[in-house]
Amino acid sequence: MIREFAEGRYDRMPYRRCGRSGLLLPAISLGAWETFGGYRDESVARECLFRAFDLGITHFDFANNYGTPPGNAEVVCGHVIREMPRDELIISSKAGYRMWPGPYGEWGSRKYLIASCDQSLKRMGLDYFDIFYSHRPDPDTPLEETLGALDTLVKQGKALYAGVSSYSGAQFADSVRICERHDWAPVTIHQPYFNMLSRTIEWDLLPQTERFGTGVIPFCPLASGLLTDKYLGGDIPAESRAARKWGPEWVEKNLRPERRRVLVELNDMAKSRGQTLAQMALAWTLRLPAITSALIGASSVRQIEENVATLDNLAFTEEELNRIDSLTMKKP
Ligand SMILES: NC(=O)c1ccc[n+]([C@@H]2O[C@H](COP(=O)([O-])OP(=O)(O)OC[C@H]3O[C@@H](n4cnc5c(N)ncnc54)[C@H](OP(=O)(O)O)[C@@H]3O)[C@@H](O)[C@H]2O)c1
Repeated sequence: MIREFAEGRYDRMPYRRCGRSGLLLPAISLGAWETFGGYRDESVARECLFRAFDLGITHFDFANNYGTPPGNAEVVCGHVIREMPRDELIISSKAGYRMWPGPYGEWGSRKYLIASCDQSLKRMGLDYFDIFYSHRPDPDTPLEETLGALDTLVKQGKALYAGVSSYSGAQFADSVRICERHDWAPVTIHQPYFNMLSRTIEWDLLPQTERFGTGVIPFCPLASGLLTDKYLGGDIPAESRAARKWGPEWVEKNLRPERRRVLVELNDMAKSRGQTLAQMALAWTLRLPAITSALIGASSVRQIEENVATLDNLAFTEEELNRIDSLTMKKP
């Protein structure tokens, strides 16, 4: 049964155009990767998805392999989404990483992509995905085959839009041209890794997506929790991803003294803006017109509320941006 949601849910969230397509996405979108159906159970997923939707988040992102075991995020969130108004939602999934044994269980072949999309639809109990992605470029399969499979899914009505994820600028530009040449479903959206600690797409990819009018939804805008204050005190909070899933080695490897110094400075700057570090990191991602939406993860309703409150202050001074550049751009 479809639940009732907040009447004012569309009043405050900005919806940004995905490139030059007709698709509008919320400035903040929510993904399930390690959290829902992973180290957070169905009751947390339900609370988070419902609260997110009440706050205007209409886009929820999945992939075949999300959750523990892989696929569980789609199962768990599929139950929740059945209680939500499907036509008001943008649901995405992907295929590219290892999902089942043997030669047809990963990468970018037609065989794998089409079988995986069917499996994901079944797991979620959906008739179609709004966006279906090639999750990663496959060095051994012709791009034509991968993009042709996405086009087939669109023509079959199993996906409304096609997307690519983690493709380089050059691979993305080749993809756009191939789709144009064959009159296939265009690449409407790109999902790259992007945050203050990893800025390669600013020069490698974004000039290309702007040129071709393609939307961009960066994943891990909080560097999976590093761009929050949770690890800065030196302890690993018991309920964190590091504690529950990736282990303290992950923090150790990613928070070496130089990185920690940078994060402490960024945290101070965020405080002086009246924001948390997470909020400043999201605002910084959204400062670029090339970016359609920031794709966050969250473990709790509180985190979602804090992250959506980012939208109260998206402006940066020139001085703040220069300071962030000096802290986060790698020296040649
Ligand atoms: N295309 C791809 O290859 C790819 C790869 C990875 C992810 N993704 C997509 O991107 C989504 C987001 O990835 P991610 O979860 O790593 O993103 P993220 O937004 O960088 O990190 C999310 C984590 O940060 C912490 N967090 C979030 N808000 C917080 C706040 N206000 N205060 C303190 N901590 C906060 C939480 O950690 P704790 O849980 O520790 O509290 C949360 O789980 C995924 O769900 C998936 O949809 C795509």
